[in-house]
Amino acid sequence: MSEQKVVIITGAAQGIGYAGARRFAEGGYRVILTDVKREKLDEAVKTLTDAGYDADGYELDITDYKRGQEVIADVVRKYDRIDVLFNNAGITGHRPTILHFDPEQIRQAEEVNLWGSLYMIQHVARVFVDKGIPGAIINVSSFVARHIDWSPFAYSLSKAAVDGLTRAAAFHLGKYGIRVNSVAPGCTKTEMATKYDYSDPVVRKHQEDRTLLHRWIEPEEIANAVFFLASDQASAITGVKLPVDAGYNVSKEDNIESIYGEHN
Ligand SMILES: NC(=O)c1ccc[n+]([C@@H]2O[C@H](COP(=O)([O-])OP(=O)(O)OC[C@H]3O[C@@H](n4cnc5c(N)ncnc54)[C@H](O)[C@@H]3O)[C@@H](O)[C@H]2O)c1
Repeated sequence: MSEQKVVIITGAAQGIGYAGARRFAEGGYRVILTDVKREKLDEAVKTLTDAGYDADGYELDITDYKRGQEVIADVVRKYDRIDVLFNNAGITGHRPTILHFDPEQIRQAEEVNLWGSLYMIQHVARVFVDKGIPGAIINVSSFVARHIDWSPFAYSLSKAAVDGLTRAAAFHLGKYGIRVNSVAPGCTKTEMATKYDYSDPVVRKHQEDRTLLHRWIEPEEIANAVFFLASDQASAITGVKLPVDAGYNVSKEDNIESIYGEHN
């Protein structure tokens, strides 16, 4: 088995996933980037390899169970090990209310954020167990798993389910020495947030003011927390959710209906 550790990252073509790829590459890992966006993925892999890092890319929709199995099998065939899964890919979905949702809109968010993450855990954990690797898995929750008022509610539900998934996976895999944790980002400057909330000055400022540090988060700040949770520095940490949200999780005001009422 090669000495160099291997991390698999889903949704790695951009945003928090890409920041994670860069952080793990800087930390000496071989980084395996996966994403549904083929072109962006190729660019991301090229940027890293041009900078001298060990990176490889696979087109992967995490909701495709069979394709996920194939990708993981190929990574093991090529590199003979996997040490970390950064289970990052996610979508926000639509903003309907309980009274007006279309079941298909709810299904999409659950399928990617919950089912896709679950599939990836199974694929990678089987490798950890087969090879006796005490690997680490880091899922991605969100501040909206708790602050359900802010987001498309299907997204909030799916992230609350990811919290349950993190605890269940930590419970099932602990006996193999495998640790499973999550990060819960606050409003982070990526395409997901800039498309909607960051580009609206009212919402942007409102979200800023709800944090204790009065600011948005950089994707690299999430990546640093993920890198920590994957490292030996976190060797006794499993089954937890780490908020990386500039203090949003202890902010006091919970009702922003007035803002979203106007903006829907
Ligand atoms: N940006 C924020 O404010 C914020 C806050 C809390 C949580 N998050 C979570 O952080 C994670 C990363 O989000 P981001 O902000 O970088 O968003 P982003 O939209 O910039 O990046 C998400 C990436 O995931 C990929 N992806 C989407 N569906 C996929 C699928 N089915 N299979 C594989 N890849 C897929 C996209 O192609 C994209 O490259 C997500 O889980 C998101 O829910 C983001």
